[in-house]
Amino acid sequence: MAKVNPYQVEGKVDYDRLVQEFGITKLTPADLKRIEKLGGELHPYLKRGIFFAHRDLKWCLDEYEKGNKFFLYTGCGPSGPIHLGHLGIWRFTKWLQDTFDTEVWFQFTDDEKFLFKDLSYEEIQKWTHENMLDVIALGFDPRKTHFLIDTKHAGIMYPEAIKVAKKITFSTIKAAFGFTDSNNIGSIFYTSMQTVPVFLPNVLRGEKRPCLVPLAVDQDPHFRISRDVVEKLGHHKPAVLHSVFMPPLVGMEGKMSSSDADKAILTTDDAATVKKKINKYAFSGGQATVEEHRKKGGNPEIDIAYQWLRYFEFDDKKLKKIHDDYKSGKLLSGELKAILIEKVNEFLAEHQKKREKARKEVEKYIFKQK
Ligand code: TYM
Repeated sequence: MAKVNPYQVEGKVDYDRLVQEFGITKLTPADLKRIEKLGGELHPYLKRGIFFAHRDLKWCLDEYEKGNKFFLYTGCGPSGPIHLGHLGIWRFTKWLQDTFDTEVWFQFTDDEKFLFKDLSYEEIQKWTHENMLDVIALGFDPRKTHFLIDTKHAGIMYPEAIKVAKKITFSTIKAAFGFTDSNNIGSIFYTSMQTVPVFLPNVLRGEKRPCLVPLAVDQDPHFRISRDVVEKLGHHKPAVLHSVFMPPLVGMEGKMSSSDADKAILTTDDAATVKKKINKYAFSGGQATVEEHRKKGGNPEIDIAYQWLRYFEFDDKKLKKIHDDYKSGKLLSGELKAILIEKVNEFLAEHQKKREKARKEVEKYIFKQK
């Protein structure tokens, strides 16, 4: 069976099984209708089941309708370059910000990555800065977006983190993350830090707004643990929206990850690298020969070029035509890859320009207590 937790995603993930195991709830057509009604439109990632499950969404939207608007909370563990999988979560978060006109609290867990990765504190700081550029490049509203960097904002976060930590036992952490007695003691404490932004904005402002957390499902175990804890501390449990993993280039198992740069597209890859990686590594659902492909057609369900296009081609009609043409054998694997390469390079050219501009904007986003 596949393993899914914040520190390990392996094997072919069975999402239905995960829903059961994690105790999360699948999004229904009625949920989607409600989001569309309240927001005025539906993001393609919702229509396409990329965001597929939730915790307490109904409550969060009920509060919204009563005028108690949620804030969004998500984050990044800065230990390497950003890949397209991360971006999917954050592009969707930006859509939520625009659509519901909400604040975003964005946590950079430099403490976490220092504790879990074999990297120096200085290297982690470099990645924190680099990763912030990618987030800013996505166009989050600087007036409504607040970056929290765990070691830099320790003064406001630590007093809250210890309140959380006091209510979580080592055995709970061991069971959730598969830790053993040889894990370092910082890693055992870390979940408390990831919990703090769930309620910190309310503590700072004396409010009681709901918190909505968009994430990929690997991060859910932190919140599964902390939801009960924050309630005991007098705060609302956070609502969560879960995404599936964007698969690595080599096939549908596991998740795209920066640790294996050949299996991922990084936001800093140039056009030639993107083309080379996709042509060389993208797993094909096509047939062995052109003749056979024309006769039997390809399988878009396992074809990475098609699966990735679901993240980049927002025009439903175009995507359907690509799907149908590939399935019928009219569209060849190489042609499908060429469509993806063009789409990704078009997106990255824009992103990279904005990423450079972002170098001057970082300060605007870092949270400052008034
Ligand atoms: P990190 O840096 O590992 O990942 C950042 C976000 O990207 C998601 N993600 C993916 N989504 C789709 N496909 C993939 N292949 C893929 N790989 C990663 C992650 O689920 C995450 O949402 N501890 C966290 C940082 C964090 C956080 C949060 C994340 C702090 N607070 C609140 C979500 C919500 C981390 O190391 O994420």
